[in-house]
Amino acid sequence: MKIAFYCHADADQDYFGELQDALQLPVVSSDQPEQYSHLLRLDPEGLGLERLQQPSGQQQQQATRVDFLDAGLQYRQQSTGKQQGIAKAVGLNRHAPMHVMDATAGLGRDAFILASLGCRVSMLESSMLVYCLLRDGISRAVMAEGEIRQIMQGMQLEHGQALEYFQAIQNGSREKPDVIYLDPMFPVRQKSAAVKKDMSILQEILPLQDESAFAALLQAARDCAVKRVVVKRPGSKKGRQDQGASFIVPGKAAHFSVYV
Ligand SMILES: C[S@@+](CC[C@H](N)C(=O)[O-])C[C@H]1O[C@@H](n2cnc3c(N)ncnc32)[C@H](O)[C@@H]1O
Repeated sequence: MKIAFYCHADADQDYFGELQDALQLPVVSSDQPEQYSHLLRLDPEGLGLERLQQPSGQQQQQATRVDFLDAGLQYRQQSTGKQQGIAKAVGLNRHAPMHVMDATAGLGRDAFILASLGCRVSMLESSMLVYCLLRDGISRAVMAEGEIRQIMQGMQLEHGQALEYFQAIQNGSREKPDVIYLDPMFPVRQKSAAVKKDMSILQEILPLQDESAFAALLQAARDCAVKRVVVKRPGSKKGRQDQGASFIVPGKAAHFSVYV
């Protein structure tokens, strides 16, 4: 996996320089460079990541961007409200909106749903590339009108490692959140259509979560959350890895293990 960075001539060159400093990716002058598997591109529309080598028979897809104005994401946000799996797992069907720490923010979709349900969401992301994609989407959404802008005010993003953040909570230098939400990208045994395009591109560029290392992360989260820890796992229902969970909220492509 090799990622190159391309800047469109009409994109903001100062922003490009700032991203280049943060990411330290090889810069290319063509948006079809050879010998790279992925291209991070800065266009006037924003920052996006695309796959250069498509699996055989598949068409070139559009770049993955963080777009909180996207109709599909807004549909998910509005569709089943507090009855949707993530809301039940966090406890929003019974409790007032809370402070949720999404310690594995990714593309910010789950965080957006929680913020749209009234939660204050602190997001943490360890990959600098994903952090830059997410920050780019946030910077466009805060300029939007109306409800989206209000939702964004409830979301805060930082770059960093969850375990270090939890240690800071333990030593009192960070606030304890009510809920800690973890969706760290576990390996998926069967590639299903349910693994959405955006998530499959993240699976190509990021390391997958090792189960044995996850036990320590989960324990640290449980020591820090005031009310509960929620873990999103692939598969519609309970599996061997869910042992010890207080209860499970099943779903279509993923289920939630809740540690109260
Ligand atoms: C499956 S994605 C999360 C998707 C997210 N729930 C969403 O709705 O877009 C997992 C993300 O967690 C990040 N991550 C994994 N382990 C982490 C850790 N220990 N600390 C912080 N971020 C982590 C990865 O870099 C990746 O971007």
